[in-house]
Amino acid sequence: MPTDLSPWRLSVAPMLDWTDKHCRFFHRQLTQKTRLYTEMVTTGGLLHGSERRHLRLDDCEHPVALQLGGSEPHELARCAQIGARWGYDEINLNCGCPSERVQRGAFGACLMAEPTLVADCVKAMVDAVDVPVTVKHRIGIDREESYAFVRDFVGAVAQAGCRVFIVHARNAWLKGLSPKENREIPPLRHELVYRLKREFPQLSIVLNGGVTSDAQIAAHLQQVDGVMLGREAYHHPWPMTGWDARFWGGAPNPRTRAEVEAAMVAYMQREAIEDGTPWSAIARHMLGLHHGERGARLWRQIWSDHRRKPLPAAEVAAQAAAVLAERQAQALASI
Ligand SMILES: Cc1cc2nc3c(=O)[nH]c(=O)nc-3n(C[C@H](O)[C@H](O)[C@H](O)COP(=O)(O)O)c2cc1C
Repeated sequence: MPTDLSPWRLSVAPMLDWTDKHCRFFHRQLTQKTRLYTEMVTTGGLLHGSERRHLRLDDCEHPVALQLGGSEPHELARCAQIGARWGYDEINLNCGCPSERVQRGAFGACLMAEPTLVADCVKAMVDAVDVPVTVKHRIGIDREESYAFVRDFVGAVAQAGCRVFIVHARNAWLKGLSPKENREIPPLRHELVYRLKREFPQLSIVLNGGVTSDAQIAAHLQQVDGVMLGREAYHHPWPMTGWDARFWGGAPNPRTRAEVEAAMVAYMQREAIEDGTPWSAIARHMLGLHHGERGARLWRQIWSDHRRKPLPAAEVAAQAAAVLAERQAQALASI
């Protein structure tokens, strides 16, 4: 294990509607060191909406990055300052989201066609805050598939002071694909990300897209500074408990699934008092906790059953634990 590990060595991706505060709290129960990202917060949403609603975070979440969506340098600089004031450890600019709504706002992936504007945005943010300003982007847009396109983008944005690039290793097709299809259909080209690292050895290059196992993470880390996982981490979170030991040189996570669940129930109770958050808004992020175990489907059904919403979280947890225990006892009896 190298002694000077990059802070970006391993991270969980920003995912709209998924990596909210509650999800990040859950992930933090599984890995202490992995970097976490917020959902994308637009400059408009932050400047005209509630800071607390968008930016509230828990002390345990660090290291945690705020991802911003926008394309107006002054607004981004102001939002970066607000994010830094709330305690975020990094401000990340989204240059990879292909949604039509985001394109109408002229930010996200379509910004890759305007490296000079992105450079202006980055410079304004770098001048405004002391925490690192990073960029998450694609390898190209539409049918622009040359390496030179992404190389020139990274080169221009690095000139403005960005030192960390998180590269989702597929193009964004701005017309005709939904955001979901845009995460599946344009082909993955990890070798372009490796090439960026070779060409810009002084920059931190983080690979994202289609990574689904610890073995793949380890292999990519031979070529780049970091790896970011999105869907796999969200749907199958338990392997994250091995990451601190395997990838960070830290202690293994000693907790059992039941202990993690108990920590989440305590959090649900605290959130209900502090913020009026219903437990279901938190439980929805932990439905993959027992993935692969006997009884997991029934356990998940209990935590996602809307008829149980009026019950206290501790009671739902007790019911979920009972079905798991029953299934596991049945399995033992059948041996
Ligand atoms: C539900 C969902 C929401 C997403 N929202 C964002 C977002 O807000 N900002 C962003 O940069 N990428 C977003 N992404 C893309 C992910 O960050 C990541 O780049 C993509 O899923 C590829 O990584 P993966 O194959 O490991 O999932 C989202 C992905 C999903 C599945």
